[in-house]
Formats: sequence, structure tokens, C-alpha cells
Amino acid sequence: MSNIIFDRVARHFRRNGVDLAAVDGVSFEVRKSEFVAIVGPSGCGKTTCLRMAAGLDFPTAGSVTVGGKPVTGPGPDRSVVFQQFALFPWKTVVENIDFGLRAARLPLTERRERVGRYVDLMGLKGHESAFPHQLSGGMQQRVAIARSYVLDPDVLLMDEPFGSLDAQTRVVMQEELIKLARVSPRTVLFITHAVEEAVYLADRVVVMTRRPGRIGEIIDVAKVRMDEHWDRHERVEDVMDEASFVHLRTHIWRLLREQQSRNEQ
Ligand SMILES: Nc1ncnc2c1ncn2[C@@H]1O[C@H](COP(=O)(O)OP(=O)(O)O)[C@@H](O)[C@H]1O
Ligand SMILES: [Mg+2]
Repeated sequence: MSNIIFDRVARHFRRNGVDLAAVDGVSFEVRKSEFVAIVGPSGCGKTTCLRMAAGLDFPTAGSVTVGGKPVTGPGPDRSVVFQQFALFPWKTVVENIDFGLRAARLPLTERRERVGRYVDLMGLKGHESAFPHQLSGGMQQRVAIARSYVLDPDVLLMDEPFGSLDAQTRVVMQEELIKLARVSPRTVLFITHAVEEAVYLADRVVVMTRRPGRIGEIIDVAKVRMDEHWDRHERVEDVMDEASFVHLRTHIWRLLREQQSRNEQ
């Protein structure tokens, strides 16, 4: 299992000939098999951070390392789930999940075994030969997550993966993700703008400031969870009723609102 380290990361873009600092001085670690969520105002550089961990973008200054090695590009140790599911529309559920395994030239028997396992785990049984357009958004997102997990990456990078789902489906997906995290733990960097989702899912929540995105505060949810004796295997609605959960949520909301009002000044 690998960790992810952001060390004084800055990323500047040039836009219309003007230098734009998207993120600046970002340092934090996602420890081995830890689930870290990033929240922050829109445009603060969350996606940029995730892309740098994925090797799809690179820092202007500072470094991003995964498992102790500087990220030089995408690799089989990391897989990414975007808000847009990006499934192959002409491939069935099974073919979509199998895609990466096939590309990695794994033996057929192993591919079948692994795909079958995640079809089961993600509740996709009975839909194996369906095409994406025949599935609901929630089911499509299960396929996208299965496709990432099946590759057995050390690191899972998720950019608002549930952003386009309706509230009910979103809750189901959150519970599925927790279940999955228990059966096969991964190092997860998860971006969301939903504060409750972050507090429910994450061991720690990184709150970013508005652009140029910096680290505002890092909140140790796992510690509170342990101290206050609630756990993520309880139902979402029960967890969200816990006083300490409400307290954390409100605290993060305030931090974000401060950023927002700074924006308006
Ligand atoms: N390729 C790019 N070229 C120019 N500007 C970019 C590029 N990617 C992102 N940006 C800018 O960087 C800032 C951060 O973007 P992003 O990481 O997508 O924010 P978030 O995901 O937090 O909403 C935004 O102002 C965005 O417009
Ligand atoms: Mg984004």
C-alpha cells in the first residue's frame, strides 16, 4: 500500500497571457490505506491536486510523491474515478470492468474471477451484459468504481464521483464505498464539495482555501469517530445525527463560508 505526499506544491497556469496561481504551498499526506477527503470552494484547485497525484498534470513547484516516488505520469498503482463516469458506451458492464485487466494482458481465468468478484461486491449481478445507456446513473457509477477497484490499485483518486447522482443513490453509493473500503482497503484521495459526504467517508478532511488554493485546516474525523464511538458501518442517517458529526460538519461549513465571504469582498 502506498501513501501520497504533497510537499509545498504550487501549480500556475497561463491564461490569456496572465499567470494564474491555481494552488500554492499545498502540503499534506494521505497515509497508507487512509481515506482523505478534500473540500473547498469551487475553483480552489481540488481537481488540479488530484490530477497531479494521477500524473495527468504536474506541479510548477514542489513535489507529489506516491509510495515515495515522484509522480511522473499515470501508472497502474493509481486509478481515477471522475464525476463523468467515462464508461465505454459500446461495451457491456462486464467488458467495461474487464477493460483495464485486458489491457494489462492478465490471463482470462484471473480476469473472469476478478470481474466476477466486483460484479458481486458492487451489486451488479444480473446486469453483466447490459450496456451503460440501459443503466441508471447510480448503476453506471458502480461500474466505474468496479472498473477502478478491479485493477487492484494501491491508490484510488476520486473527483466528485457522486456529484451527478440523486440524493438517495448517493447515500447508497457512499455506503457501498465504505463496505468496499473495509473488504479491500485502499489509499483514497476523494474530492467532494459535499461537506456531509466528506465527514461521513473520510478519516481526515482537508479544507482548502479559495484560489490560490492552500490548506486551510486538516480535520481528524477518525479520531472524533473513535472518541465518540460512532462508525461508518452504521447507517448514514444515524451517523449524521451524532452530535459530534453535526459539530464537525458545522465547523467545516463555517470555514468554507469564511472563504466564500472573502470571495465577495
Ligand atoms: N488547464 C488549465 N488551464 C488554465 N487554467 C486552469 C486549468 N486547469 C484549471 N485551471 C484553473 O485553475 C483553477 C483551479 O481549477 P480546479 O482545480 O478545476 O478547481 P476545483 O476542482 O477546485 O473547482 C481554476 O481557476 C481553473 O480555472
Ligand atoms: Mg473540480
